[in-house]
Amino acid sequence: MKHFVVVITGASGSAYGMRAVEQLLVSGHTVSLVATPTGAEVMAYEMGFRLPETSAKETVLRFLELPPDAPLRVVHNDDLFDAVASGSSPVDGVIVIPASMGFIGSIASGLASDLAERAADVALKERRPLVLVPRETPLNLIHLRNLTALAEAGAIIVPAMPAFYQRPETLDDQVNFVVGKALDVLGVTHELYPRWRE
Ligand SMILES: Cc1cc2nc3c(=O)[nH]c(=O)nc-3n(C[C@H](O)[C@H](O)[C@H](O)COP(=O)(O)O)c2cc1C
Repeated sequence: MKHFVVVITGASGSAYGMRAVEQLLVSGHTVSLVATPTGAEVMAYEMGFRLPETSAKETVLRFLELPPDAPLRVVHNDDLFDAVASGSSPVDGVIVIPASMGFIGSIASGLASDLAERAADVALKERRPLVLVPRETPLNLIHLRNLTALAEAGAIIVPAMPAFYQRPETLDDQVNFVVGKALDVLGVTHELYPRWRE
């Protein structure tokens, strides 16, 4: 089983991030979850779920209705001494979901000033999968240039763009489609959305 870092930033759509954490854990993978301060605030606003300062692992697993021994680590964004801050740490991929334009700008500029940015930066330098799920509209030229720079550096851009060809019936279907597309590029098997013509 693999070890993925999931970063939740302050873009709208923390439900995508939490679904990714849930699905990776259900698939038996280890997850290190890092939320930026604004990411935690937006999640509290959008989902009514506040990441606590202590016992965060237990609280997240209870919220996701997963067993208390699921292989989740919840790491504070200030903790640059955490293992995932180092390229020597075995990490199989980093997924930033949702990714704010601020975060995209920071990592496009090579900043690594907190754990979330550093984990993404490490993935790029180590040539490991870095999946970015940006959420913003409309996009200005700076956003587009930053996304291009990151794609050139090896990141995989999976915009939070729900589709309709799978005939979604619920909001959950839409969330599952976006998360499923992001997990596809990481090679994680799932049944989050129906495959075309299957
Ligand atoms: C309710 C709310 C929704 C937001 N939605 C977005 C968004 O969809 N995309 C985006 O780029 N920024 C969005 N922002 C702004 C970011 O949170 C802000 O730029 C922040 O500095 C990002 O910091 P972070 O990347 O460290 O989390 C939103 C802010 C709030 C309060």
